[in-house]
This record gives sequence, C-alpha cells and structure tokens, in this order.
Amino acid sequence: MLELEDIQAGVLRPRPVPYAATYIVLRIDDRRAGRELMRRASRVVASAAHTNSPAGDAWVSASISFQGLKALGVPPDSLDSFAWEFQQGMVARAGALGDTGESSPANWEHPLGTPDVHVVVTGLAPDARRLEAALERARKAYQELPGITAIWRQDCYTLPTEREHFGFRDGISHPAVDGSGIPGTNSRERPLKAGEFVLGYRDEMGGFPPTPRPEALGRNGAYIVFRKLYQHVAAFRQYLKANASRPEEQELLAAKMMGRWRSGAPLALCPFHDDPQLGADPRRNNEFLYAEDDSIGYKTPAGSHIRRTNPRDAAVPGIVRLHRMIRRGTAFGPPLPEGVLEDDGADRGLMFAFVGAHLGRQFEFVQSEWINSGAFIGAGDAKDPISRTSDEAGSFSIPRRPIAKRLHGLPRFVVMRGGEYCFMPGLRALRWLADLPT
Ligand code: HEM
Repeated sequence: MLELEDIQAGVLRPRPVPYAATYIVLRIDDRRAGRELMRRASRVVASAAHTNSPAGDAWVSASISFQGLKALGVPPDSLDSFAWEFQQGMVARAGALGDTGESSPANWEHPLGTPDVHVVVTGLAPDARRLEAALERARKAYQELPGITAIWRQDCYTLPTEREHFGFRDGISHPAVDGSGIPGTNSRERPLKAGEFVLGYRDEMGGFPPTPRPEALGRNGAYIVFRKLYQHVAAFRQYLKANASRPEEQELLAAKMMGRWRSGAPLALCPFHDDPQLGADPRRNNEFLYAEDDSIGYKTPAGSHIRRTNPRDAAVPGIVRLHRMIRRGTAFGPPLPEGVLEDDGADRGLMFAFVGAHLGRQFEFVQSEWINSGAFIGAGDAKDPISRTSDEAGSFSIPRRPIAKRLHGLPRFVVMRGGEYCFMPGLRALRWLADLPT
C-alpha cells in the first residue's frame, strides 16, 4: 500500500484546471534556519491523501536540490546515495539534455543554474485567491527566518483559452499509478507500479528503485525536474504559415507536429478533421494505442510530440513502460494575441515539471533519446518538432501515401531558460531533515 499521508500531494495529484501556480526558489544561508524551514514546511505541505477533498485542491509542496541537501548538512554517506544525475545537477547535464546554444546554462535566467538554488516551493490552486491563501501559509514558514532568502519567483496561470501558448490543450495524458487512487487517462494501459514514481516501492523491473539512505529520508520521496521553457510563439505561427497555405492546412500541420489537434482531440481517433467535443472529453480523448491500426504513423506521425514522448504500444526499441513520467505543465507570461506573427518580446512559455523515481531512465532518457534523436524511430537526427531545445536545425517527416512529406530546416521553437533537479521528500523525511544532529 502507498503511504499517501506521507507522500507530498505534488508527487501524485494532477494539477487542477483551471489553475494558478507559483514557484519560489529559496536559498539557505544558515544551516539551523534551513532545518527550521524543513520543520515548518512539514506542517504546511499537503499530503497525497484525501484526493477528493475540495480543500485539497490548493496545496504547497517543497523540494530540495542536491546543493540544498548539502546546505542542510545531510551527512556525506546519505548524499552519496542519491541518483548521480541529481548529485551533478541540471547544469552539468546540459550536454546530455540538449541545452545548447541559446538554451545553454550560460544564458539561463539568474540565479537558475547557480549553486544558490536550494529549495523550490510550489503552490498550486484552482484560482489566484486560493493560491494566495495557500502561499500565505508557506510564507510564514520562510519569511520570518533570517538565513532563508527567496531569490526567484515564477507565477503561472491558465491562459484565457485554457491552452498552452502554442494553442494546444495540455495536461490530458497521465499514467495510472497502482495504489494512488488517482485514475489514469487511458484504460488500455495497465497501471504502472508505484515504484516508478515514488521511492521505496516495487517498480516495473520487479525490484525496488535505488532509494536514498537512510530510509527515513528516501522513502516516499520522488525526484522532480523543473524546467522553465520559453516558447517562441511567433516563430511557431510563422513556420505553420510558411509551410501550409490555407488555414485548415496549417491546423493539420500543427496537429501532425503535436499528434493532437489544438482542441486536444488525438489524430489517432480523428485523423482528418478536428473534433472539439472529443478533445474536451476526458473519458475519450486519451483512449488509444498505435500498434494495431497505425503502425506506420499515417495518422499520428512517429515523430510527433506525443508519440515520441509516449510511443504507447508502437514498436520501438526497449520497453516504453520504463520511460513514463508524471508531468505538470503550467503556463507563464501573457498570450501572444491571436493572429500576431511578430514577436512582442514578452516572456512566455511553460514551466515544465517532471515527477518520477528514475531521473536517468525516465526524464533524461525521454529528453535525449526520444525528443532529441530520431534513431529510435529510424529517422536519424530528426528531433521533436515541438519541444527540442537544441540549436541544430531539425527535420520532420509526415507519413503519407504515396510518399511522405518531409520538412527540413525546422527551427527550434522552445528555449530553455533554467531549471534544476530536485528531490521532494515525504513528510516524515522533512522532519528527519529538521532533526539532523548539529
Ligand atoms: C514547451 C514545451 C512543451 C510543450 C508546449 C508541450 C506540450 C504538450 C501538449 C500540448 C501535449 C498533449 C496533451 C497531453 O497529452 O497531455 C503534451 C504531451 C506530452 N508531453 Fe509535452 N510539451 C512540452 C515539453 C515536453 C517535454 C520537455 C517533455 C519530456 C521531457 C514532454 C513530455 C510529454 C509527454 C510524456 C506527453 C504525454 C504523451 C502521451 O502520453 O501521449 N513535453 N505536451
């Protein structure tokens, strides 16, 4: 059984729709203050239990970077037991993640990418009023603590369209997790073992994922990846216009790149025209697989964003179930008004968050092998047309009869602006951190 009362809500609970969210980065300048912060956080953060309570719709969670654990004085043998990617931090992994050129750490927003990022406090609620109330409780935990400084903040909110900035409905597809009480979105996929996402439980390999020591610290924790991704909306619109003549063709091209129409309706279920009712229907909009009727990708190209990031039952090397992830995307910045094709210089994009027990075989694998490479689908160096952050120009192939349509010189539409690998401890573990001997 999953110990839901000990697992932070931020690990398992899907974000509400609509939503308001805030990410606050804290620096620990004084070890004792850091430990007091952990004690207060353990009283403020929400647990994953009571998923149906309305009050449970607004919650605060706290996660800690490797530098943060060091600042708290976690003993070396415990530090060494964390995943090595986490120990290195996101900057050191930039090459592997394709964070190059404009996306490279040298260009990140300060202080992201510096050793000052210690704790990330996330507030999530259905609206600004309830977010403010949840944050007020969190602020009490850090504001009157000399030795703790808030050094960065990002506010996010649902756009009026309830879509992300490129215009697509997001937050549709989520894996079902055994024992979480939270239903999955695709009844054709078997729920995943809880150990894929929460440390201390059996995973899909049949064993237990390497859990940080001691158990009091590692159990019921999860790794979290934060990435601030800038979206070049004008460039995306210009690209659609330059490569498709009529508006309907532009919509089809956008859908082929994503694997879904902007309404959320999957190409797998309506390949020729959009079906907004299907897109909005959570009982139907994720009910599909690929192998049986679309092995080639005539409906959903193998290189589209959603088929790359979750090939489901399509024939790809390896075992797809070992590379699933819990995602939380929240939009920041004002929308670029409809129809505008010139950039207005505003900061807009997606705060991407990944949750899982395996940084390497989940997030890093998907980012490097499925998003930034085409080898797994026999497409050489073709990359994800939506979410790659690397500089090299991409290509994209749309299977068609008699011959595929190939698009070359695909620009990058997403730029990485900074982020970090964090660990979201269980509630008991927060108290363990608070009680570390001096
Ligand atoms: C700004 C960048 C991104 C945008 C605009 C974006 C947008 C979207 C949208 C609109 C969907 C379809 C809705 C849904 O299925 O929930 C989606 C699905 C998904 N995205 Fe992204 N995404 C971005 C970056 C990423 C990154 C960096 C990753 C992984 C490293 C990722 C992984 C996924 C996964 C796993 C799915 C679900 C696929 C499925 O189960 O069918 N996305 N994304």
